[in-house]
Amino acid sequence: MQAEIDIQSETQPASHPAIYDADLSRSRKSAPLDIARLQRLVLAGFMGAGKSTVGRMLADRLGWEFLDLDAFIEARTGLTVPQIFATHGEAHFRQLESQALASALGRRNMVLALGGGAPEVLTNRLLLEQTPATATIFLDAPFSTLFDRCMLQALNAPAARADAPTQPAQLRPLLADPDVAEARFRARRPVYRRLARLVVDTSALTTAEAVDGILHALRARDSSIRS
Ligand code: S3P
Repeated sequence: MQAEIDIQSETQPASHPAIYDADLSRSRKSAPLDIARLQRLVLAGFMGAGKSTVGRMLADRLGWEFLDLDAFIEARTGLTVPQIFATHGEAHFRQLESQALASALGRRNMVLALGGGAPEVLTNRLLLEQTPATATIFLDAPFSTLFDRCMLQALNAPAARADAPTQPAQLRPLLADPDVAEARFRARRPVYRRLARLVVDTSALTTAEAVDGILHALRARDSSIRS
């Protein structure tokens, strides 16, 4: 199993215009990040951004563990995310999410897919920014693309399980009202950008292209991020 990102081992493909640095001018980002010694890559972005799909393939390529924060919460509570929302409400879900995130960040050599709302919570942002050897990547796309992807995921869900949700809102409670969901998207986008080292516009990328691009960008930025 590969423990570190080996920045020397592969030839570097041309950089992809869909993958770029987040705003590095902010002072908190002036601290050097030693890419070669990274132990955690965290994927942030709105619902439908591809955090789990990209995260799984990225972890596979690195020989790292993949952890989906929603699935981790479900395993810890024995409830599905929609059940937690329906029974206990969003505020309680956010508490469980923060506890799960703190626990997850104790792991090493891990790609972690956040739930779309995790970066909204200050505690979570502080956890992500202050955990050493950890870099967050923002998977971006226009709201219409993200919403369509969520619809498709919900439509495809029944094939796997007879009792699986058939409506996007059953799978993701916060999609019940598209206008409210879009307002959340607009409010969250700058938060994702501030948290991230790297932004990936996934709208025109396959999963494999996004993963290749992320690996290339991390290797290429090993020296540039320090300057
Ligand atoms: C949420 C996103 C979901 C899940 C919950 C709340 C959000 O995760 O955590 O339904 O607030 O955006 P995904 O982004 O993985 O769908």
